[in-house]
Amino acid sequence: MNQLEAREPMLCEYTPKDYFGQVSGVDIFGNDHPLEIDLGCGDGTFLLEMAQHYPERNFLGVERLLGRVKKVCRKAEKLGLTNVKVLRLDSKYVVEWLLSPGCVSKLHLLCPDPWPKDRHHKRRLVQVSFFEALEKVIMPGGEFYFKTDHSEYFEWSQEKAQLFGRFPELEWAEDAFFYPKTDFQVQWEGEGKSIHRMRFQRPV
Ligand SMILES: C[S@@+](CC[C@H](N)C(=O)[O-])C[C@H]1O[C@@H](n2cnc3c(N)ncnc32)[C@H](O)[C@@H]1O
Repeated sequence: MNQLEAREPMLCEYTPKDYFGQVSGVDIFGNDHPLEIDLGCGDGTFLLEMAQHYPERNFLGVERLLGRVKKVCRKAEKLGLTNVKVLRLDSKYVVEWLLSPGCVSKLHLLCPDPWPKDRHHKRRLVQVSFFEALEKVIMPGGEFYFKTDHSEYFEWSQEKAQLFGRFPELEWAEDAFFYPKTDFQVQWEGEGKSIHRMRFQRPV
């Protein structure tokens, strides 16, 4: 028996019945409320604040580390949140293969690993192929939010967005709407680093 089979999933943990099928918000939450995805949700600070602020929306955190998944689930269950689930899986796989076409209203990629070494750039999540996958899973009029402290990764991502070319960029003024800081953003700002952000929309 492997580790996945041996472990009893927590209540807020989402485990697909079939990892080779496709899932929508209805499959995950049992209702058709708007679905938001937080890729690499870490300790869940952003995810849980959003879920508390917007009870009429559903939030799926994607995180590869089991310890973090458990931590977020414990907090969500303590808060009694029914609109949060966490999926322990690779973000790229989720976007490219698992999510049904057009099922996502907003997708957040906040402070992802920047993979700064040249030879590791291919591991970066933001690539032209990533935008192509987003174009399939984000519904028309839906949005993609991206933040990083890493200037070079930010420029890289802008370049990939331009090469892809089919998502217009939207303005994103600080405090324009409720958008809590993530755990990493708080840490980095505490170290005096500035955060870059971009927001795109899939055309209607
Ligand atoms: C730098 S942390 C940022 C966490 C959170 N978004 C924040 O801003 O506080 C990156 C997170 O993404 C997770 N992660 C990295 N690569 C991943 C992948 N391919 N699939 C899922 N999670 C991933 C890491 O385990 C980590 O929790």
